[in-house]
Amino acid sequence: MAESSASRGRRAVIIGALMALLVSGCTPETPKPPPSSDSGQTPAPSGSSRSPSKSSAPEEPPVLFTAQGDIGIGSSARKVLSSIAKIKPQLNLALGDFTYEPGIEQQFCDMVTEKLGSEFPYQLVAGNHESDGHDGDIANFVKCLPNRLPGLEGEYGTQWYVDVPQKNPLVRIIMVSPGIKFRDGQPLDYSKDSARWRWTADALDEAKSRKIPWTVVGMHTPCFNLGAYECQPGEAFTNMLIEKKADLVLSGHQHIYQRTHQLGLSRDCADVVPESFSRQCLAETDDTMVQGRGTVFAGVGIGGVGLHEVREDDPEVGYFAAWSGKNRKATYGTLKVTVTRDSLAAELVPAEGSFTDSFEITR
Ligand SMILES: [Fe+2]
Repeated sequence: MAESSASRGRRAVIIGALMALLVSGCTPETPKPPPSSDSGQTPAPSGSSRSPSKSSAPEEPPVLFTAQGDIGIGSSARKVLSSIAKIKPQLNLALGDFTYEPGIEQQFCDMVTEKLGSEFPYQLVAGNHESDGHDGDIANFVKCLPNRLPGLEGEYGTQWYVDVPQKNPLVRIIMVSPGIKFRDGQPLDYSKDSARWRWTADALDEAKSRKIPWTVVGMHTPCFNLGAYECQPGEAFTNMLIEKKADLVLSGHQHIYQRTHQLGLSRDCADVVPESFSRQCLAETDDTMVQGRGTVFAGVGIGGVGLHEVREDDPEVGYFAAWSGKNRKATYGTLKVTVTRDSLAAELVPAEGSFTDSFEITR
């Protein structure tokens, strides 16, 4: 009995609702769950209206980051920071060499946070000026510009990686410190099959196995360069990065901009040998490349401190696609990298001077 009165009540509610619908004249009889992004008819509720990248997942925002090294605390450094602020990246990779003098770590950190905000992920890896503590100490920089990215693994400031965004990442960023001396006067061991070598190789392999679309490796020292430096990270370590098909390798140290073509290993190029040139090691030589053929190396030591000269007669010059320095279109600035599921696009954004460069790798 109680049951039948309850069901009567329910029926009354349903009839009432139907009547209300008819009266209000809004008929649509099939409210179906919206397929979220039907072309044209939905005004996209979720804020920004970025053009959705054709095929892939619905409305996946790109990852935008900047990178540069060799910064100092002068006016050019401030201009570069202002240009980073204008770009509004999600994070910045500072590729080492921060103050070039001891005792003013806090001043550097204040300069950064004044321009970019105190919560901005201004992510550090040590340069040779602070790795052994002689021109400021990486331990102090790490305190005043701490890691701000969730899920970071490893030792922040020295050897770490992070996936961005943390959920459904588009890129794994791996920062390492080969070829520079630390507090005991010794470089960290990145020799073949050492623990740090393995850590780096595993981070690259794991990114692939987790199907993270892109890998970017950063460190202070460049292997290939248009100047006097030898391959400080080591030939074997560098070739491992190429073999593992890291998409982009960033460095500073030399105060110039120097960006290679995509370098790749093959039957005709078993190893990219520093201080020489082999055409066989060029995987692609235009500015639109395809992922998986090799690695692009970009030296971005133009973050603000005095520039170096480019040596265009360097034996490695054939590997390079673009460069600028004190004697060639002197420019300070930052690399800006935009990562989507389908593409990694990089652009040199000048802050002082006018040299630019851009390249893209697609999948
Ligand atoms: Fe430097």
